Amino acid sequence: MLALLTGTESTWDHGRASTLAARDAKRARPANGDVLPAATSSTLARMSLQDRVDELAAQQGSTEEDRLLHTQIVRYERHGTAHPGVNETYYVVLDDGHEAFHKPFTGVAVPTAQHYGHHPDEVPMHECGAWRLAHRLGPAYAEIVAPCVLRAHEGEAGALSARQFGLPLTDEPLTRVPDRARAAAFFDSLIAQQDRHAGNYRWDGNAEKLGLIDHGFAFARPGQYVNQSFFVAWRWARDEQALIDAEQQALRNLLESRDLHGLGRFLLPEEAEALAARADLMLERSSILAVGEF
Ligand SMILES: Nc1ncnc2c1ncn2[C@@H]1O[C@H](COP(=O)(O)OP(=O)(O)OP(=O)(O)O)[C@@H](O)[C@H]1O
Ligand SMILES: [Mg+2]
Repeated sequence: MLALLTGTESTWDHGRASTLAARDAKRARPANGDVLPAATSSTLARMSLQDRVDELAAQQGSTEEDRLLHTQIVRYERHGTAHPGVNETYYVVLDDGHEAFHKPFTGVAVPTAQHYGHHPDEVPMHECGAWRLAHRLGPAYAEIVAPCVLRAHEGEAGALSARQFGLPLTDEPLTRVPDRARAAAFFDSLIAQQDRHAGNYRWDGNAEKLGLIDHGFAFARPGQYVNQSFFVAWRWARDEQALIDAEQQALRNLLESRDLHGLGRFLLPEEAEALAARADLMLERSSILAVGEF
């Protein structure tokens, strides 16, 4: 059983209770008070955040996830670069030497989440949801998306993603690995990624590896804000928006799975519906969607 779910000190409940209290203390409330998106307002079909977290935790357990979930954390420090990002991010070293980045629930910038149309508590869920979907779609996607799990560190729960190596802000992947860049466009279109600027992937030229990071602002619904959509815009500009056979098959598999490859069990219901609607529309048109078409 995952540590998040057991009855010990490191339980999710324990982490979450202190998380929520700490967040209330730490987060600067937006000037307009209690106007967070109503992600947790109740409807009959709506599960609590805790239930959705439990669902997600129960699904975690691929090889890539197991390392992130269970290897001891030996270093944990605030990530401070020239471009540290808007959400609090911590640099993590695991006992086996692997590196990762932790983005706690409490560190999500509330005004930014609001701007993108999300309740802050959904942001780490999206980070993990994007990876889970990539994993279930198959190797073409799992290879380009940073593995990511929900994990608590010293009572602070958050999304822990495996470090992707290489440089941001380069368009080399477009010429060196165009198949992967096209896969990134398909993936971003499907997950309704709102924030794929050129700092939200890494390019490792030696390994010829493209690594997508930062999926907190994804699973958008129609009309929500888009910041940038680097790969989608590129694929359209090359007139390569038409789906290839493998992409059509991936969409059919997703739609035929009982629960959208598990995501229907932990995304918000309206997010899951929008995901299914995008998959339908992409199949109907046999094309990726336009930039910002959620
Ligand atoms: N999986 C990862 N691999 C490599 N670097 C990472 C990873 N996750 C986070 N980082 C580092 O932490 C920074 C902030 O992370 P991330 O981009 O996920 O957060 P953010 O605050 O949502 O960013 P943004 O400013 O794009 O909204 C990144 O720019 C990068 O330097
Ligand atoms: Mg970022």
